[in-house]
Amino acid sequence: MSKKIYLDNAATSFPKPKCVAEAMVDYMTNNGASLHRGDYGSVFEVENAALTLREQLCELFNHDEIKNVVINAGATMGMNTVLIGSLNEGDHVLVSSMEHNAVMRPLHELECRGVSFDHIPCDSQGRLDPNKIPQLIKPNTKMLVLCHASNVCGTLQNAAAVGQVCKEHNLLYVLDGAQTAGHVNIDFAKWNLDALVLPAHKGLMGPSGIGALLLSRRLADAIRPLITGGTGSRSDDEHQPWLMPDKLESGTLNMPGIYGFSAALGYIHSVGVDALFERERLLTARFLSGVASLRNVKLYGIPNLIDRVGVIALDFIGTDNALAASRLEQKGIMTRCGLHCAPLAHKTLGSFPRGLVRFSIGAFTTEADIDAALGAIEQI
Ligand SMILES: Cc1ncc(COP(=O)(O)O)c(C=O)c1O
Repeated sequence: MSKKIYLDNAATSFPKPKCVAEAMVDYMTNNGASLHRGDYGSVFEVENAALTLREQLCELFNHDEIKNVVINAGATMGMNTVLIGSLNEGDHVLVSSMEHNAVMRPLHELECRGVSFDHIPCDSQGRLDPNKIPQLIKPNTKMLVLCHASNVCGTLQNAAAVGQVCKEHNLLYVLDGAQTAGHVNIDFAKWNLDALVLPAHKGLMGPSGIGALLLSRRLADAIRPLITGGTGSRSDDEHQPWLMPDKLESGTLNMPGIYGFSAALGYIHSVGVDALFERERLLTARFLSGVASLRNVKLYGIPNLIDRVGVIALDFIGTDNALAASRLEQKGIMTRCGLHCAPLAHKTLGSFPRGLVRFSIGAFTTEADIDAALGAIEQI
């Protein structure tokens, strides 16, 4: 039986730092209280834990308003909250042509409510040219949504330059950080972001089922909640409180998740995003140079280290890609094949509907893992 090699970190990172599970078990064993529900010691402890998590997120992403850091169920939840909670009949949205279905499906739902959208075309490697945005802006364009790095092929967009265009044209700017948070630095304030959508379980190395949504003041003031209900605050009022973050945090939060997420961010802080990025780049370079000498696969996306993260998409020439992924699995290599919940991105890259096999590097991937994967690819 060959050693198991996990190269599916774009789906979810694995393994997690040990402190993540330890913090969750400790909470469940020794505390167990619910945020904002009760006036006793263990509730005060969880209040502190949630506040610490919001502070960690503010520090990591250079955001200065703790109350506009929403703890939620993850990136899909965050994207739905932003799109459905702030778009109205007659609004127009611009989206890159590399978006995930977490963006496209809510937008298609909103079409029935009179919201329209257009794609900002990206090139065949998935790169978006910010200079192409102004000519697509209409009088009713309200928002621009950008997938910071592609979950299909790792192409990284110039989010700062796009932010500048959004500022000049007064567009709400929403960044999908699912494939970049924890991998590259993201600067909420400098890039003029109005919303940053984050899952805890990918590059941030936390548990699944929890994430965060960072909002600018103008978006936080305007946004409507997707879900209403008990918040543990203003219990005398049957109407949803409009204070942040309670407005967007109805129902009991994922408390073990808060502890695990916070521990993961502590780990990232101790290692540093720059160090994680550098390590990922070295491994990506090793993978890319190995792939360049193989004749049985074609790389999709950017073939060098410029503007990319460690998500690598391959087409196995003359072989069904699902079969190739299954053969890799027999050799212990875990990947993800198919369309990766991003048919639009595959259409842009020219790999729709065939799909590709995706290899994605994480913080615990080693050089030996990359070499083993290359060896296995060559044998297929
Ligand atoms: C680019 C991108 N956006 C959004 C999501 C949705 O994340 P989640 O399923 O954690 O809500 C993913 C997940 O794969 C993703 O890769």
